[in-house]
Amino acid sequence: MKKSLAIAIALALAPTIALAGAPAPKKEGIEGKGYVWNAQEGEKIEALHKKGDAKAGQEAYEVCGACHLPSGAGRPDGTFPQLAGQHTTVVIKQMADIRAGLRDNPTMYPFAQTLTDAQELADVASYIEKLCIPTDHGKYEGADAALQVSKGKELYEKQCLECHGKNGEGNKEKFFPVIAGQHYKYLLRQMTEIRDGHRRNANPDMVKVIKPYTNDQLVAISAYQSSLKMPGSMCKESKGKKK
Ligand code: HEC
Ligand code: HEC
Repeated sequence: MKKSLAIAIALALAPTIALAGAPAPKKEGIEGKGYVWNAQEGEKIEALHKKGDAKAGQEAYEVCGACHLPSGAGRPDGTFPQLAGQHTTVVIKQMADIRAGLRDNPTMYPFAQTLTDAQELADVASYIEKLCIPTDHGKYEGADAALQVSKGKELYEKQCLECHGKNGEGNKEKFFPVIAGQHYKYLLRQMTEIRDGHRRNANPDMVKVIKPYTNDQLVAISAYQSSLKMPGSMCKESKGKKK
């Protein structure tokens, strides 16, 4: 697909639907026998070993910006996740998993499919990581927000902090995603999908932790996560400004 055409299609699609085309492959993942989380193989290792050039990545990111916005902010309604500031390792792993059929993403699949060059993937990941994290993302908006956030904080600090960090900073070397600045509705959807076994590239240790969570607990913990801020990585004033 030519880049200009890809951008036009992405812009037209962004509001709602999936593109009809070659269906994504489907790998069993988390519920299957012999699933090895984050197996170091294929194009992922190739991209992880390249040095990303953020400048070159800016151009490759144009098509992504149609859905994730040029600032990387995504949408508060949770359809498109916030990407800015995400670890390069996480972006590369998620892209490789989506391409390999380990994580369903029918809306984005056609675009993930066009990004086949390991260097280009490393470049775009490096561009995304350098973007500051917008602070006007979607938060929990119920009247009981303060209560939900405090219930969520207790759960988070007990069971999630060891991997996702005190401020939602994740862990680059271990492929643990940044959570700070993420939209409440996207967090809730991912948490539910991971608990229910539908996000097939999930980390088995995390699945064990959230399997017993009730829907109410997922609401509280998502409310808390969307309140997290990573010192030094958040945007200063209006979204999209670089650090
Ligand atoms: C047509 C819209 C669309 C386009 C274009 C698009 N994405 Fe996405 N992307 C999505 C959607 C929708 C999701 C969330 C899927 C889900 O809910 O699991 C997503 C998820 C992601 C994720 C996972 C985020 C996370 O927190 O786990 C990454 C990384 C990502 N996109 C990177 C990119 C990159 C890089 C490009 C450009 C090459 C791109 N996207 C282009 C729609 C799009
Ligand atoms: C053992 C480490 C570990 C623990 C414990 C853990 N997680 Fe995770 N989490 C991960 C990894 C790794 C991923 C990315 C999964 C993948 O796609 O490979 C992830 C993904 C997520 C995502 C999706 C992020 C995105 O951008 O799509 C959310 C939300 C999340 N975790 C929240 C939590 C919460 C809340 C807890 C505590 C109840 C928790 N995690 C416990 C390792 C962990």
